[in-house]
Amino acid sequence: MPLVTTKEMFEKAYKGGYAIGAFNINNMEIIQGITRAAKKLNAPVILQCSAGARKYASHDYLVAMVKAAADETDLPIALHLDHGPDFETCKSCIDGGFTSVMIDGSSLPYEENIALTKKVVDYAHAHGVTVEGELGTLAGVEDEVNVSAEDASYTKPEQVEDFVTRTGVDSLAIAIGTSHGAYKFKPGQKPQLRFDILEEIEKRLPGFPIVLHGASSVNQEHIKIINEFGGEMPDAIGIPEDMLRKAAGMAVCKVNVDSDIRIAMTAALRKHFAENPKHFDPRQYLTPARDLIQEVVEHKIDVVFGSTGAAN
Ligand code: G3H
Ligand code: 13P
Ligand code: ZN
Repeated sequence: MPLVTTKEMFEKAYKGGYAIGAFNINNMEIIQGITRAAKKLNAPVILQCSAGARKYASHDYLVAMVKAAADETDLPIALHLDHGPDFETCKSCIDGGFTSVMIDGSSLPYEENIALTKKVVDYAHAHGVTVEGELGTLAGVEDEVNVSAEDASYTKPEQVEDFVTRTGVDSLAIAIGTSHGAYKFKPGQKPQLRFDILEEIEKRLPGFPIVLHGASSVNQEHIKIINEFGGEMPDAIGIPEDMLRKAAGMAVCKVNVDSDIRIAMTAALRKHFAENPKHFDPRQYLTPARDLIQEVVEHKIDVVFGSTGAAN
């Protein structure tokens, strides 16, 4: 099946009370781990890459591998630019086969965010590509940008109608307490999300798809494996799965996951090398890494986001 935009998948997800998993990709094994899970569960999926991933793997390789996955699985798969930093990067992805882009103007002053987002929307829509914008700032690390918890700010519900109307975006990423990376809450801190803000946004934008970034849950078993086999990850606390499930039943139609895949891959590799110190064939050590990614994604699709069987 050719790659699809996010339009139809979000309409169905909103009505069906579930969310689409949007998983970050950097290489073939990650793409295969994700799409094998989606295939097994007959679930639509978004494969997204950051500007950093595009630099690492190169645009053409990523597009070719994602197209191969869409052909092989026959699933609705969108290829999405995650955290597009500027118009030029978005244009290059739109021109080069992506079906969806995010323009991240969240750190700009409000009017500049609107102007930049609208410029991307005008170009994207003229080329049949959907656009995600962002209002509010998440804490954490994306590429080289590190936003401290003090500088993070929740989305202001009173701005969302104006932003969506004036930019024409197809979906909106909001900040309600999630953050990027593995360390979302301090040890001992009780994870909390501002569902009151999400509810208020939902009321102001009925039927409009909302996106949650920084939504990894951080599997404690995987952290334990990493540390048992030579890693040194401090206590890491993610977003509880029941909170993500609740958000997926509300206006949240897209949930972004990167760190959980990184952690799974690292755990599988560390364990494999510790148990098989003589191995040096990449197929031997990348197989358990790909399998564990698949397991993580299956769990999210089935138990957390509720998108099993939603591909048709
Ligand atoms: O939100 C950011 C994603 O986790 C991508 O991270 O920019 O290091 O590829 P990256
Ligand atoms: P995590 O770091 O929580 O996986 O978030 C990823 C993300 O938001 C990608 O845009
Ligand atoms: Zn993000």
